[in-house]
Amino acid sequence: MADTLATILPFIDRSDARGGLSIIEEGAGLPFRVRRAYWVYGTSPGVSRGFHAHRQLQQICFCVAGSVRMELFDGRREESVQLKPGMGGLMLPPMLWHEMHDFSADCVLTVLADAEYDESDYIRDRDQFIRHVHSS
Ligand code: TYD
Repeated sequence: MADTLATILPFIDRSDARGGLSIIEEGAGLPFRVRRAYWVYGTSPGVSRGFHAHRQLQQICFCVAGSVRMELFDGRREESVQLKPGMGGLMLPPMLWHEMHDFSADCVLTVLADAEYDESDYIRDRDQFIRHVHSS
């Protein structure tokens, strides 16, 4: 069992005196071919999102501005990690329940995914997710 649910993929860092520059590149650490990107921004105060796991989808998420707290649950353990710019990308592998809380007003959360959108890949019921984990 991995030590942590919050696997952070380091980005290439080309920050200098002028400011930050982070890079993620196929062939240089990106563990899958990106088929889709989306971003969450302008989140209303007090809103939480996510509350699902994916059956197959692999994703990497990272804040390009602001911060958000990710709650992770693999069916047994729960972990929390705060994302902010410059810290690399959080891997969201299949079968990892994730929730996003405490979005800062300026948060821009970007997600790279290895497949196109497919609603049938989602598990949106936490109890169903737990049953699925414990039956496999
Ligand atoms: P969802 O993944 O449920 O977002 P969250 O878990 O943060 O609430 O997506 C919200 C809605 O947008 C849902 O109806 C599905 C749709 N959607 C797409 O059509 N394509 C996409 O790539 C994504 C991420 C969502």
